[in-house]
Amino acid sequence: MSPAFDAVDVICTKRDRHELSDDQIRWVIDAYTHGAVADEQMSSLAMAILLNGMTRREISTWTAAMIASGERMDFSSLSRPTADKHSTGGVGDKITLPLAPLVAVFGVAVPQLSGRGLGHTGGTLDKLESIAGWDCNLSNEAMLAQLDEVGAVICAAGSGLAPADKKLYALRDVTGTVEAIPLIASSIMSKKIAEGTGALVLDVKVGTGAFMKTLENARELARTMVDLGTDAGVKTVALLTDMNTPLGLTAGNALEVRESVEVLAGGGPADVVELTVRLAHEMLDTAGRGGQDVAAALTDGRAMDAWRAMITAQGGDPDAPLPTARHTEVVRAGADGTLTRLDAYAVGVAAWRLGAGRARKEDPVQAGAGIELHAKPGDVVRAGEPLMTLHSDTPERFARALDALAGGWHIGTESGSAATPLIMDRIA
Ligand code: URA
Repeated sequence: MSPAFDAVDVICTKRDRHELSDDQIRWVIDAYTHGAVADEQMSSLAMAILLNGMTRREISTWTAAMIASGERMDFSSLSRPTADKHSTGGVGDKITLPLAPLVAVFGVAVPQLSGRGLGHTGGTLDKLESIAGWDCNLSNEAMLAQLDEVGAVICAAGSGLAPADKKLYALRDVTGTVEAIPLIASSIMSKKIAEGTGALVLDVKVGTGAFMKTLENARELARTMVDLGTDAGVKTVALLTDMNTPLGLTAGNALEVRESVEVLAGGGPADVVELTVRLAHEMLDTAGRGGQDVAAALTDGRAMDAWRAMITAQGGDPDAPLPTARHTEVVRAGADGTLTRLDAYAVGVAAWRLGAGRARKEDPVQAGAGIELHAKPGDVVRAGEPLMTLHSDTPERFARALDALAGGWHIGTESGSAATPLIMDRIA
């Protein structure tokens, strides 16, 4: 049987700024997944989409076609409603760790399918793997059982969810087409819709350490994803949050687990607590369980109990000491003044170079590597005081990490740097 469409015609339709028909989209996604459309043809189409955009209908059909390329999970047998959170990725973004058990305390199940870090942003699975014994690979049955018993799961997505996205994302990564808003939105939402959550809260990061550098682009991405979720019957809201400076005081796998445990024990940095509590409120509201005193569960031990149960259920030992790096190097303030800027991208790249992240997806990460911050923008510092401590098992990495940090912070006499609010907008 001859194919229904020709890949070159589909590419030329988008190249010439016309809309793709639903049938063209369904065909090209299916044919690409099965190898009938070649990588070079799909990369040309992805570039045409990056340059010429897509309408809401095209994005919606594209997303549905990627969902249809694989399996869909079904949580309808659970006795609790489900809510998930997705962050578009940032530096020091460990929020999933305290958030999932916190939301579970209030009777909402959190099926958090997570990924690994690539480049300067960290990955939730890499962070949790610094806990002795913890295993990210669960069968669908084990995931359902844990959601019923514990209420929260953080695990790796199985290979059956949206396989078209896996192939396309790898291609975009090497063809300069990651940044297309229709492709980012359909990539994220195809996985979240296929996962089967009832409610979804998106944390769209804005700033130097994020995919979206401007508020305008972040709003467009958030609006596109919220519309896709809503059209698919998933109650979806998005927060736009600041990623010009790292979240909290740590970037790196075990360092971030330690900070998350501090938050679960009722302490931790104010920005991490603020965002965790706000996202928990959004998830509970969206799942129909709003009006709860969320912050109390962090201080009275309930969220910590849920964390311990979640880690133990996946073979982890919540009491095992976390790994620490073999070497440290302290970076000190060169002058008296106020820290007016501490750039998220610079800190992310430095943590990655210290061994916390990977350059290729098969590379190992160092559990103890990363950066501990001793000051944040707005803090007064004195010459000679520690600004940050670098951690690594391989001290030859310190020089390249320091190169990444050069120019990444500023100490001045002005005091207005802390003006950007953490939560910049909400889109529903
Ligand atoms: N995360 C995804 O899953 N897909 C993208 O395209 C970008 C970020």
